[in-house]
Amino acid sequence: MARRVRIALKTAVWGACLAPLALLCYRAATGDLTANPISFVTNTLGDWTLRILLASLAMTPLRIVFGLSWPIALRRLLGLFAFFYVCLHFAVWIVLDHFFDWPRMGADIVKRPYITMGMLALLSLIPLAATSTAGMVKRLGARAWTRLHRLAYAAGVLGCLHFLWLAKVGRRDQYWHALVLALLLGVRLGHVAVRFARRRRERRGAPVGRRVNPPTLTAP
Ligand code: HEM
Repeated sequence: MARRVRIALKTAVWGACLAPLALLCYRAATGDLTANPISFVTNTLGDWTLRILLASLAMTPLRIVFGLSWPIALRRLLGLFAFFYVCLHFAVWIVLDHFFDWPRMGADIVKRPYITMGMLALLSLIPLAATSTAGMVKRLGARAWTRLHRLAYAAGVLGCLHFLWLAKVGRRDQYWHALVLALLLGVRLGHVAVRFARRRRERRGAPVGRRVNPPTLTAP
């Protein structure tokens, strides 16, 4: 991919990911955060965490299905933005929702399954953010790094469970998010299954390097 195209795509991702935060700040500045501002801010940040996380998980399936290479260049940036949003979401919960009441927060994490799921999702994103630099890829080795970064799917599943658990009766969007995640996981698993079957077929076939004589039409 040309350098100019990559820069343009990354700039678009920066703009798209920062726009919801800018809008939230604007609404805060103009006193337009609804009758329950803490809940509104928490939910808006939670929504964007999940959307951006799913967008980052969609990059590899886009390459698999459509053979595109550019989504891979955006995967890390989107993952880091998802982490940025969940940190804000979590900070609002600590500061505005609980005002640093650590015992009550601990009780919430243990007693409320949706908080437990959210916490686990956040915890699984931390090693990914910590190892997102090129230096860390080198230090861990590409294989171990790739294996570790499969945790992003665990974060997606936990994030969706968090949303499914907390959503009130009558809502539907939690199911749409779970469906998107199931599709993305389906593409990845299907791809792994195809590769596995191909490798098995190759292993069963003629060993590499052994010459097979072409069939002759005349009797020896
Ligand atoms: C990757 C991790 C996470 C994701 C993807 C996520 C996503 C979400 C989503 C989608 C919502 C619902 C928004 C709506 O109703 O429109 C939400 C709400 C919420 N989340 Fe999270 N969240 C995560 C982590 C956390 C963590 C770590 C905590 C706190 C420990 C937390 C606490 C909450 C709370 C208190 C609400 C509001 C529930 C309510 O309205 O009663 N979340 N989150």
